[in-house]
Amino acid sequence: MLRDRKSTRHEVGLLLLTRCATMTTKAVLLIGGPSKGTRFRPLSLDVPKPLFCVGGRPIIWHSLVALSHVQGLTEVLLIGFYDEAVINPFIKDASRDFPNLSIRYLREYQSLGTAGGLYHYRDVILKGNPSQIFVVHSDIVCGWPLEEMQKFHSGHRGVGTMMAVKVPKEEANKFGCVVIDPQTSQARHYVEKPEEFLSDTVNAGLYLFDSNLLFTSIRDAMDTKLKRSSDDPEATNDEQLRLEQDVLSPLAHTGKLYAYQTTSPWVQIKSAASAIPANALILASYKTTNPSLLRRRSPTILAKSRADYSKKKGPEIVEPCFIHEDAQIDDTAKIGPNVSIGSGVKVGFGSRIKESIILDNTVIDKNACVLYSIVGEECKIGPWARVEGAPLAGGQQQSIAILGKDVSVLKEVHIRSCIVLPSKVLSKSAKNEVLL
Ligand code: GTP
Repeated sequence: MLRDRKSTRHEVGLLLLTRCATMTTKAVLLIGGPSKGTRFRPLSLDVPKPLFCVGGRPIIWHSLVALSHVQGLTEVLLIGFYDEAVINPFIKDASRDFPNLSIRYLREYQSLGTAGGLYHYRDVILKGNPSQIFVVHSDIVCGWPLEEMQKFHSGHRGVGTMMAVKVPKEEANKFGCVVIDPQTSQARHYVEKPEEFLSDTVNAGLYLFDSNLLFTSIRDAMDTKLKRSSDDPEATNDEQLRLEQDVLSPLAHTGKLYAYQTTSPWVQIKSAASAIPANALILASYKTTNPSLLRRRSPTILAKSRADYSKKKGPEIVEPCFIHEDAQIDDTAKIGPNVSIGSGVKVGFGSRIKESIILDNTVIDKNACVLYSIVGEECKIGPWARVEGAPLAGGQQQSIAILGKDVSVLKEVHIRSCIVLPSKVLSKSAKNEVLL
């Protein structure tokens, strides 16, 4: 009897795996537009947030790595309302990096909301009859348990599966909170940023939907919204339809939304400060899963200013780090852990960089120190200057230092936990300030 039950379970498992492998799946990345990502300023002033580099590559590039490994997934559609000219260079590069994926950008004529854009492009999404659709927010990085989600999704008859993660209780109301039936894994109640505590399990911004049922649910949500606005002329009559509030919340009450709970690492990139833990997460995960993505050449020696150092083989690197292959790092510098260094960066004699992102073409002069910071493109950090934030302590908000593009920090100046707007020259030390 026991053996029978075991083998039946085994067969069901095999059947689910076979179903996952033979299904056609598409993915949609919701990338928003220029009016989104305001909390990411000043870093989003020069580059759209989804294209900001963490772990050495644009945020959404990392989701493409994960999606490119899903069996039967051949098309990824980016939906947003940025100008095509801003997104198309990324599409070109990504199409080269992921030759097994067809990657396209579909532009909304205005912000249509997280469900409105999906509905507007439903014919393109449904072309080729995909049975399942991954919908991914562009502002998350995580362990991407996509195969596990597919198995979970195939085991229920709901409309969709939402990935859900636990966050500290005091942080929960900044997210979409979900109450989950522990027996069935159905999401019973879903509220976006509730005023009162509801649950510390939250929407992780990654979904898997049954294609046809998804669009039926969005259609129902649109009808409800239209009816509400015809019944009540005061009700908002914008064209936006939100996936979370307008579609998923009512769906939870019908028992047709399921939650896949995971302890897999996850970071949502809302504020500029959250790019630092996101960077660390990506570097740590590539270190174990795909070290080739942390590629770098033997570091170039900038200057052998002292004979003693001429025998050293290179700077001291505390892994994990991403160092672009054309960055030049002095032999005496110490870098890491959790540092990403972009193209054309020069790091001088005796410098120290830790838990930071240094963007393209920045110069860090001799004996400078950059800790828990994001340094924008084309900045200059003078000799013996110090740019630093503070590490995360006991659930507190991380206070990092952020320099916008083309900022110069002069010799010996100390910038601590400041946000600096682009093109500033800092000749005096500052602490906990926004420098406009
Ligand atoms: P808040 O969390 O409320 O600050 O807003 P947000 O825009 O940062 O996040 P939201 O939960 O609204 O969006 C989730 C994802 O959908 C993000 O990746 C956004 O870029 C994207 N998004 C938001 N609104 C739209 C929209 O109108 N159209 C498209 N295509 N994407 C959107």
